[in-house]
Amino acid sequence: MKSIEREVKMLKKEMSLGEVAIIYPGAINIFMDLDIDFCCGGNRSLEEALQEKNYNTQAVLKDIQNQYEKDVAEGTEIQDFNNLSKTALIEHIIKTHHEYLRNNLPRIESLTETIYRVHGENHYEMLNFVNESFKALKKELEDHLEKEETILFPKVEQYEKGLLEKSELENTIEELESEHDAAGDILKGLRKMTSGYTVPAGGCNTFVFAFEKLEEMEKDLFQHIHLENNILFKF
Ligand SMILES: [Fe+2]
Ligand SMILES: [Fe+2]
Repeated sequence: MKSIEREVKMLKKEMSLGEVAIIYPGAINIFMDLDIDFCCGGNRSLEEALQEKNYNTQAVLKDIQNQYEKDVAEGTEIQDFNNLSKTALIEHIIKTHHEYLRNNLPRIESLTETIYRVHGENHYEMLNFVNESFKALKKELEDHLEKEETILFPKVEQYEKGLLEKSELENTIEELESEHDAAGDILKGLRKMTSGYTVPAGGCNTFVFAFEKLEEMEKDLFQHIHLENNILFKF
């Protein structure tokens, strides 16, 4: 993977969240810490997203810029996905993010079932919701990955070889983007219902682990959807 040239760009409040994340991928973690809906609201400007949460736009923008400059100065690797060919980006997405989901969705399902079974009596509303929402998310994502790998990604590769027109991809892209929104909504609901994955007092190690894994999956999925919505699906 090629690293970004060590040249720092100025981030601007008018940029969309997606644009900021393309320039500085580390911004995704900052957005998550700030509870900004990045995943499916990537087209909003940074200013709009920060104002919505009553943040001081200039102060946060300065923080992100500082973190970005620090990462560049320290040589922290910033992967430049924007300069990859679409075929190489697809390969990265499958190997990294699809593989992650295929390995982890069944594991997390078994964890959410376990905590529902063991702690459901004391935390019925939350754990019933977590269990049901996760099952719905898992099903949606499994179908979604399949659709990408068998329908859209081959079309994108053909497009890159000049064998297809952009217009022949548009409907599929629209459909898959709306599936990203649906997955993002489920994640939002999970985060809200669990008060940001806070384990209640008395929660056992499995409880802690289940919430850690859900949060890890959320992070991975945000990065995954960012690469698709903001880079791969843009022509
Ligand atoms: Fe994907
Ligand atoms: Fe996707």
